[in-house]
Amino acid sequence: MALQLGDIVPDFTQESSAGSISFHEWAGDSWVVLFSHPADYTPVCTTELGAVASLKSEFDKRNVKVIALSVDSVESHQGWIKDINETQNTNVNYPILADPDQKVADLYGMIHPNSLNNLTVRSVFIIDPHKKLRLTITYPASTGRNFDEILRVIDSLQLTDYHQVATPVNWKDGDDCVVVPSISTEEAKQKFPKGVTEVKPYLRMTPQPNK
Ligand code: BEZ
Repeated sequence: MALQLGDIVPDFTQESSAGSISFHEWAGDSWVVLFSHPADYTPVCTTELGAVASLKSEFDKRNVKVIALSVDSVESHQGWIKDINETQNTNVNYPILADPDQKVADLYGMIHPNSLNNLTVRSVFIIDPHKKLRLTITYPASTGRNFDEILRVIDSLQLTDYHQVATPVNWKDGDDCVVVPSISTEEAKQKFPKGVTEVKPYLRMTPQPNK
């Protein structure tokens, strides 16, 4: 069965551009963004991997490790990384898993044979420090992902985990947040000293707690 939100993600040991990686051990106490791309030396992937490298400090700030994957070999990744660095003016500073035996791709359901035969599609997995799967998205091969959106989701997940607020439609960092339904309005008023606005008994807003 496909991986579902809340599942503990499968562990594996696989080679990467940065040496052998035992996934759960490598993840440690960090959040993880694991993302697959169809193949090395392809144009959209080149821009994506460059953009992720440029966002390294944003991921670091949020205690997130990033790791990419395709079904190509370590040697192929090493050559392609040079191209990414040259063309995207960056320094790929995270591992790219090599998955020529498709071990990880199969464990995570990254191959959709009716879409791309034997190639990994553009999947993203956000995994929390307990190794629980918190988000999956799958993009078509021809559409580059928006990694600012991935950071936005991480911010939202961390606000929920650490501050017990959810985030409304089109929320951006600094916007008001939603008090989670499990907290009563009375409790919310104690917990959120910046104030709670009760629009409806089930819709309570509060300024972003960590701003
Ligand atoms: C790309 O990564 O550039 C790509 C891959 C498959 C189809 C189209 C674009």
